[in-house]
Parts: sequence; C-alpha cells; structure tokens
Amino acid sequence: MIDQVIPLVYLAAAASFVLALKWLSAVNTARRGVIVGVAGMALAVCGTLLKPEIVSYRWIGAAFVVGTIIGVPMALMPMTAVPQRTALSHAFGALAAALVGTAEYYLRTPDIDRFTMGALTLEVLLGFLTFTASLMAFGKLQEILPTRPITYRNQNVMNLSLFGLAAGAGAYLVVRPENTWLFPAFGAMALVFGVLLIIPIGGADMPTVISLLNSYAGLSAAAMGFVLNNKLLIIAGALDGSSGFILSVIMCRAMNRSFTNVLFGAFGQVQAGAVAVEERRTVRSATPEEAAGILEAASLVIVVPGYGMAVAQAQHKVRELYDVMAKAGVEVKFAIHPVAGRMPGHMNVLLAEADIPYDKLAEMEEVNSEFPRADVALVIGANDVTNPAARHDRKSPIYGMPILDVDKARTVMVIKRSMNPGFAGIDNELYYMDRTLMVFGDAKAVVGGIVKELAGGAGR
Ligand code: TAP
Repeated sequence: MIDQVIPLVYLAAAASFVLALKWLSAVNTARRGVIVGVAGMALAVCGTLLKPEIVSYRWIGAAFVVGTIIGVPMALMPMTAVPQRTALSHAFGALAAALVGTAEYYLRTPDIDRFTMGALTLEVLLGFLTFTASLMAFGKLQEILPTRPITYRNQNVMNLSLFGLAAGAGAYLVVRPENTWLFPAFGAMALVFGVLLIIPIGGADMPTVISLLNSYAGLSAAAMGFVLNNKLLIIAGALDGSSGFILSVIMCRAMNRSFTNVLFGAFGQVQAGAVAVEERRTVRSATPEEAAGILEAASLVIVVPGYGMAVAQAQHKVRELYDVMAKAGVEVKFAIHPVAGRMPGHMNVLLAEADIPYDKLAEMEEVNSEFPRADVALVIGANDVTNPAARHDRKSPIYGMPILDVDKARTVMVIKRSMNPGFAGIDNELYYMDRTLMVFGDAKAVVGGIVKELAGGAGR
C-alpha cells in the first residue's frame, strides 16, 4: 500500500515545484508560487518519511530539532540580508548532498557500479565546492570577509589546475572505486576549490555567483537522486539547477556581463580615489518642501526605487506619496531595474508589500523611452542603476551595464543621505547635473516630509 502511495505523493510534489516556478515568475502570482512550493516540499518530506527503509526516526527527529533551531532565526533575517541568507541555504543544501554521497560511497564500496559512482563523484564534487563557495559568498555579502576581489599572479591557471586535479581524481575513482584512500583527498580538493573560486570575485558580482551556486547545488541534488534512485530528487534538483542557471544568465544580461567576465573578471573593486576627487564638485540641493512643490506641478513622475528605499523601509511612505500624487492628478510610474537593491526582484517585493498596483511597475526596457517626457525622475535610494557613466565611461567598472535613463527627465530628484557611493563604490555624475536636485536625508523621513507637504497643500 505504502509503495503505491509514495510515488503519488512524489508526483504531487514534483507538480507543485513546476507550478511554483511558473507562478514565481510573475509579481501578481508570486505569493501563490511560494505557498505551492512550500506545500510541495512538505509533501516530499512526508513521502520520504513514509519509506519502509527508514530504520529509526530518532536521528531524523534530532535533525529536525537542530534544523528548526537554525532555520527560524535565518527566516527572521531582514529583507536586505536575503542574498546572504540564500547563500547560507545553498551551503547547507550542498553540504547535505556531499555528506550523503560520502556516506553512500563508504557503505557501498567496492560493490558500486560505474554509473552510480559517476553520479556520486559529481554529487560530492559539486556539493563540497558549493558548500565552501557559498560560505565565502555569505562572508563577502555580510562583510565579514573583504568584499573586494583578491587577485594574484596565475590565479586562473592555478584554480583551473586544481579543478582539473579534482575532476581527474573523481574520474579515477569511477574506474577504481576501491581506492578509498583517494576519496578524502578528492573531497578536500573540492572544498579548497570552492574557496579559491570566490576569492577573485567582487561583492558586486555575488548575486550572480549565488544563483550560479544555486544551480550547482541543484545539480548535486539531481546527481544524488541517481545515486539513491530517487526520482523526486532528480526532478527537484534538475529544476533547481536549470532555474538557477537561467537566473544567472538574466542577471548577467542585466549587467551586460558575460559569465567568464563575472567568474574571472575581478569586478566590484571600490574606486576610492575617484570618489575623493568627485566629492569636491558642487551639487544643488532642495528641501522636502521645495521637492513637494515641483512634484505637485508635474504631469508625469517616474519613481526609481533602489537599495536605500529598502534600507530605510520607506515603501509604505512611497505608497502614501503615490496615493497623494495620483489624487492630485499626477501620472506616477515606478521604474524597476533588474539589479536594483540586493536581490533579484527586491524592488518588486517591497512595492508589492506596500500594495502599489502592479500595472504601475515598469521594467527598464519599457520605461526608458518614457524618461524624456517625464517632468520628474524621482530617485529614492538608488545610485548605481542610474549612473550615466555606465553608458559612456569605458574606464568605469559598471561600463556597459544597462541603466535607467533618469538623466533624460526634465528634472531629476535624488533622495539619499549623503554623497556616498552605492554598491559599486563609484561616484555618480548624475548628481552634478544642472537639472538634478539632491534631497538629503533618510528616504522614509524625506518621503514622509514630502507627503505631509503635499497632503497639507491639498487640504489648503
Ligand atoms: P546602490 O547603488 O547600492 O545605492 C544605494 C544608495 O542608497 C546609496 O548610494 C545610499 O546613499 C542610499 N541609501 C542607503 N541608505 C539610505 C537611506 N536610509 N535613505 C536614503 N538613501 C539611502 O543601489 P542600487 O541603485 O539599487 O543598485 C544596486 C547595486 O547593488 C548595483 O551595483 C548592483 O549590481 C548591486 N547588487 C545588486 C543585487 C541584486 S540582484 N539586486 C545584489 C547585490 C548587489 P547614502 O549612503 O548617501 O544614503
């Protein structure tokens, strides 16, 4: 009976994962996607717990308690820390796959066929390297480790040689699995390679790297599915592997970067010198009251949210601003850059949380042609994604990254606290343009001030 129930439960779980991915790809169905994905995972876990092979539930219970103790605080991390939280999840998932592979190797050797051994070496190689690489990515994003790329002579050659050595050891084990002495060395090389892979990559490229690591962790889980002969693991791992890869491609395109450039290009170096020089130039600033006056007189305002809006948790005030401007007859749109904030979809999530209508959100490609007819481009805590240097300054580290063309609007209003740079660590020439007004202050306080002024004006 149980033997018939488990495949049905697995089938329902696999269908849930496919639907979850489908629904997660659009803002208005994303919540449903999350719920269905969680339900699918619960089904997968329950189906597995029904398996007659389980000898004792005691260790599973203990792992459940430890997992809950670690998982609950992780889930409560703030939204701005989601990228590093995701890196930690990948690290744990990959470690689990690698350890299962290691246990299976020692349990089954020497009676292990070549196909299974091939899947097992892939699982362990990807699992261990993803584990250390994800921990490194976590450290860089949490700024426990230096975020700048660390490079040295012949780095790529040395890294590729180590990878080649690990892959060679894996291939040898496939042919001669009885050489158990080689297995720890093989695992150790994978662990070291994971560290070396991340060292030359700058913090600004971490999101792309994390989705690539997501892909590796998924492939490792799919390989584990072949080792354990578990079809659900193969399906879920393949979905994870391919979706992570697609996301990395989308992010590379959004930054106009190639994979090889992300992995070997040492991007994200802070240009402290450039900042110091530019700081001496003058900017025009305005008060929230003056900003409110300009916004009130506008016909079209395009709001450009960025990481600063997330830090200030200003999305609800932004919603109030939208309401008061819409009531005054101003057309308001929100321009969403694919890598604004610190994770894919960061701005969409925050604006959806504040119930800003989905049809007011416009992707970069569609909104860029509208900036020339906008009276005001209102930049709230965004910086790098608006920097015109990306279009023309070949020496800029963000050269080639598509940006929101805010500099083409009649007036540019920038809300931020200081002249400090954004994530890429570079100055933004937008701030020194004649038609740019800086409204200095915390985004929540400034937007709140503007709303107060506009609401007061409407009542006068
Ligand atoms: P950033 O370029 O990082 O700029 C954010 C700006 O917000 C800063 O200049 C900061 O200036 C301001 N800010 C911070 N706290 C604020 C507050 N409380 N109130 C008002 N302003 C505040 O942000 P962006 O334009 O969204 O660009 C994203 C950058 O992050 C890109 O370089 C991207 O490549 C990178 N990145 C993206 C992702 C993904 S997937 N989205 C993940 C990691 C990294 P002040 O300090 O002067 O206030």
